Amino acid sequence: MGLGLSANGQTLDGKWTAAWRVLDNGESDHLYLDLHQTGAEITGAATTIGHRYQVTGDITGNHFKLALSKGGSERAIAGDLIGTQLHLTFEKAELVAFPAKPGDENPGYERISPPALKDLPYNGLAKTPPMGWNSWNAFENHVDDKMVRAIADAMVTSGMRDAGYVYVNIDDTWEGVRDAHGNLGSNNKFPDMKALADYIHSKGLKFGIYSSPGPRTCAEYPGSYGHEEQDARTYAAWGVDLLKYDWCGARMIYGNDDLQAVYQKMGEALLKTGRPIAYSLCEYGNGRVDTWGAKVGANLWRTTGDIHDSWTSMIANITKQIPTAAGPGHWNDPDMLEIGNGHMTDDEYRTHMSLWALTAAPLLAGNDIRTMTQAIKEILMNREVIAVDQDALGKQAVPVKMGDLDLWAKPLADGSVAVGVVNMGASESVATIRMSDLGLGGEVKSARDLWAHTNVEFRSGAYAARIPSHGVLMLRVSATK
Ligand code: GLA
Repeated sequence: MGLGLSANGQTLDGKWTAAWRVLDNGESDHLYLDLHQTGAEITGAATTIGHRYQVTGDITGNHFKLALSKGGSERAIAGDLIGTQLHLTFEKAELVAFPAKPGDENPGYERISPPALKDLPYNGLAKTPPMGWNSWNAFENHVDDKMVRAIADAMVTSGMRDAGYVYVNIDDTWEGVRDAHGNLGSNNKFPDMKALADYIHSKGLKFGIYSSPGPRTCAEYPGSYGHEEQDARTYAAWGVDLLKYDWCGARMIYGNDDLQAVYQKMGEALLKTGRPIAYSLCEYGNGRVDTWGAKVGANLWRTTGDIHDSWTSMIANITKQIPTAAGPGHWNDPDMLEIGNGHMTDDEYRTHMSLWALTAAPLLAGNDIRTMTQAIKEILMNREVIAVDQDALGKQAVPVKMGDLDLWAKPLADGSVAVGVVNMGASESVATIRMSDLGLGGEVKSARDLWAHTNVEFRSGAYAARIPSHGVLMLRVSATK
């Protein structure tokens, strides 16, 4: 037993397969394990249809624990060896794995050499940070044509479109399967993408879609690997206005050294369609994407891993945004908004909105636009804060620490400065903002509180206000020099 043998002398050594799930495009996904057991230690590999992991773990008696890793994305498996079966939990599902037969393996992929590097021309889009809505944060795979049309309607009736939120972006899980000619269609959730795009356009909105440079997306649907030009042509024919291109499944083939060339390939394919399609990279900020994103024709690129609807996650993402620089046409993206998804306070959501605006981040709402409270509407559609985000100068604020208070100052095109003071502490605090903190000299010409929507007065070159825990004070200040 101590050597990892189960009661009947079985070990985990060998190849195992377990049926896992059926994707929304009808494809079956299974977990395949190739394990080696030495004493109680286990090593090996695990695959699903779209991911490949290294495995380490151990077994005590019949019970085993495995850690699956693939460059930063960890999964865990726990289970029991019962006779010749593994009873295990994976991704919250209870699975039974059986000894695998030849042919049970998940598909392998030949490496296609990415193109030689060159600088692609700017597509002329996204002169200010893109604004819109994306399906992932609130809905994940629970997205379909009917819901996206209802969201498009709500973008108009709620006032979101007129506040500047124009993209309606379908994230992962829309994909069908490729036909005999390699053309990728949508799955049953989206019976007619062209008709949906036409509907979105008829509302004065733009249509965004999602894919991966890998053979599979993050949610394991078919990606654009080896079909880049073909997929770009499909998107153009549907009327797509933005592509989010998510690295995930490309990890099965490429390393970080290949990022730029692989992203360049789709950048070039999009340009070749002749349709203006904004290009949004999602590779979690690896390989200093801010230094080459513009060269591959991208308009925005993620600087971080996935955001979650929590204060800690939101602050962690904006913190990772700090060392990067951006400007018109080319934006750093600390991920989509969580405002309105229910797990932060309204003060925290105001801070979220303010920080995204101060760092000139894309404003992609990630909530259910159909059911927003008045408070959430006022946060997402605060036009004075949106104007800071959309400022033509496109500068990104960096914070200065003042104890529990972080001061973020963003120079604006008209010579004024937007400033946000965030109370990172657990209790209310008084913030004092001085003209010198803002790099402004002379006298204050105007100062406005962008959340209270009132003018405020600087006295002796300073303004003081109380800020609740995790709250924000945001001003726009202009001076005589
Ligand atoms: C990754 C991305 C997310 C989302 C999902 C979809 O995790 O970072 O924003 O697109 O994939 O599967």
